[in-house]
Amino acid sequence: MNKKTVATILNKKLANEKVTMLTCYDYVMAKLVTSEDVDMLLVGDSVGNVKLGYENTLPVTVEDMIYHTKSVKRGNSGALLVTDMPFMSYEISVEAAVRNAGRIVKEGGAEAVKIEGGVDVLEQVNAIVNTKIPVVGHLGLTPQSINQFGGFKVQGKTEYSQKKLIADARALEKAGAFAIVLEAVPEELGKEVTGCLKISTIGIGAGRFCDGQVLVIDDMIGMSTDFMPKFVKKYANVGEIIKTAVKNYVEEVKGGKFPQEENTYK
Ligand code: KIV
Repeated sequence: MNKKTVATILNKKLANEKVTMLTCYDYVMAKLVTSEDVDMLLVGDSVGNVKLGYENTLPVTVEDMIYHTKSVKRGNSGALLVTDMPFMSYEISVEAAVRNAGRIVKEGGAEAVKIEGGVDVLEQVNAIVNTKIPVVGHLGLTPQSINQFGGFKVQGKTEYSQKKLIADARALEKAGAFAIVLEAVPEELGKEVTGCLKISTIGIGAGRFCDGQVLVIDDMIGMSTDFMPKFVKKYANVGEIIKTAVKNYVEEVKGGKFPQEENTYK
């Protein structure tokens, strides 16, 4: 499969082709997912919720992101590998942002980083891009702002917040971001932002008119037992398959049905 690069993503916008992105946190899943020609893998800080069992993404560290990126990197065959910059790895100073983005690329093997925020993180985005690390922006429901939002709520519902989001998106594009994730915003706003940018919008709960879509892998294959937002489509029920397999195993071991002769060495 052809290696996907930043240029692939930028060209897709020009060619009016949809961009596909999925989150990924380990080697095995990276192998499975990239066998199906996904454009971008995101080592999301959602790893905190779906793999580490935290209530939200705030406790996730740069070390966590590097660890999971290394694992995904080994299984990735061709997707552009993007890793989230976790909470407090870029807000304090431009210098810290560049240093941590550098670590994620150098030690983890990411090919781009994703940062939550708009005008407030512009200097950081600009400085990271200037060190030749590609950046994806993230606007709308930015989970690292959960305490400010007071929960996981749809964003961009007021005229003010819509104007602000459009201004943030334009500013991120100008600062050098090559794509922007738009999370949990009304479809009309997703459409408007998509229409005013030369870079791709990747929607998650941002409607049908974004340039691409992203979902959390555990949600879309039915591995997650947590609350599921309306924008998630479950393409499989892997969680139920695992539970049935384990139930059968436990029953068979207890009942002396496993192992059989064919499972033993002579
Ligand atoms: O961390 C993550 O999984 C994300 C997606 C929701 C886009 O940022």
